[in-house]
Amino acid sequence: MRTVYTSGGFSLLSLFAFSLTAIAATISTTATGPGSSLPTLGPVYYAKTPKLSIEYYDSAPKNTKAPVAILAHGFPYSIDTYVDVVPKLEKEGYRVIVPSLRGFGNTTFLSATTLRSAEQAALGKDIIDLMDVLKIEKAVFAGYDWGTVVVNVAAALWPERCSGMVAANSYLIQNRATAWNVAPASSYPVKWYYYVFLTPPGYSSLASDTKGWAEVLWSKNSPNWTYTEAQLDAASLAFHNPDYVDIATNFYRNRLLYAPGDPSYAELANKLDTQPLITVPSVTLDPDQAVVFPATNGSTTAKYFAGPRVHHIVKGCGEAIPLERPDVFANAILEVAKLGSPR
Ligand SMILES: *[C@@H]1O[C@H](CO)[C@@H](O)[C@H](O)[C@H]1NC(C)=O
Ligand SMILES: *[C@@H]1O[C@H](CO)[C@@H](O)[C@H](O)[C@H]1NC(C)=O
Ligand SMILES: *[C@@H]1O[C@H](CO)[C@@H](O)[C@H](O)[C@H]1NC(C)=O
Repeated sequence: MRTVYTSGGFSLLSLFAFSLTAIAATISTTATGPGSSLPTLGPVYYAKTPKLSIEYYDSAPKNTKAPVAILAHGFPYSIDTYVDVVPKLEKEGYRVIVPSLRGFGNTTFLSATTLRSAEQAALGKDIIDLMDVLKIEKAVFAGYDWGTVVVNVAAALWPERCSGMVAANSYLIQNRATAWNVAPASSYPVKWYYYVFLTPPGYSSLASDTKGWAEVLWSKNSPNWTYTEAQLDAASLAFHNPDYVDIATNFYRNRLLYAPGDPSYAELANKLDTQPLITVPSVTLDPDQAVVFPATNGSTTAKYFAGPRVHHIVKGCGEAIPLERPDVFANAILEVAKLGSPR
């Protein structure tokens, strides 16, 4: 089964100084069995960066005039997180790019000897490398969960490449010097899996049942979200990557200082330890049912934002905002574009 949505480029975004040419986009749904169809994004393309072959969805690969939005997914999710966000942005004239993060989908390492690092510097740099290959000068970056780390890092270190940032949970750039700070007792039960992934049985358990782990973490981190089996199946396809388990566990091992970073990112990693300010226009979203990072009114993270910033609490929503509330996520991207334009 194949559904095609075509949208002309409306000039709703008159805030952009150029006119938009027609954009044709394809969302494909792939039938997998009687009565079931997977909500997936397609077609995908591949870009060779210095370290990776990055798989990415691109709604309009030939349109070099449209404003670009790059959407970063989380763990354990896939690019299909954005299947309902993409059409809304396309309708507003955006070229939407959704890469599979390293270790996910068909994004693969070019060399067997590259460290399978999921450190914050690497995740952010991958986006900039992708933009370089695609010759995209500037884009809006948006993400949630690991995707927040991705867009925080890319926006903080390369503000000249970022026209605006949308981030769930505001600011997650880590200063490694604080990684072992003692936290209140109540903060550990919601983060138990960070510690399980430090251990060999945790690694093996994830390797033996990637879908089961997604089910556990989706249910835990979005307690009131009734996701479908089709959504879980669609995401699970992205976990068959040969580096998935190494990357997933390394993210937590590196953040908790149980795994060193890749020395080729050392300079960027040191800069990130200073928790650099985000200067680009930003919209931040705190879902009120997220358990790992409880919702705030934005005041505790205000010190990290030096440019225009709007903060929203998303009611009745867990961690997976683009899946649970695609309208809210798409609207935040449209909102950040306005924040960045002269009035
Ligand atoms: C990766 O690509 C192969 C073919 O090139 C395809 O069969 C497979 O489904 C893809 N995997 C994912 C996770 O998209
Ligand atoms: C989930 O929704 C129910 C009502 O539908 C509500 O009572 C409960 O507090 C919600 N759970 C969370 C974690 O918000
Ligand atoms: C935001 O929350 C903090 C407590 O975390 C509180 O001190 C402050 O008054 C709140 N600000 C607003 C505008 O509600």
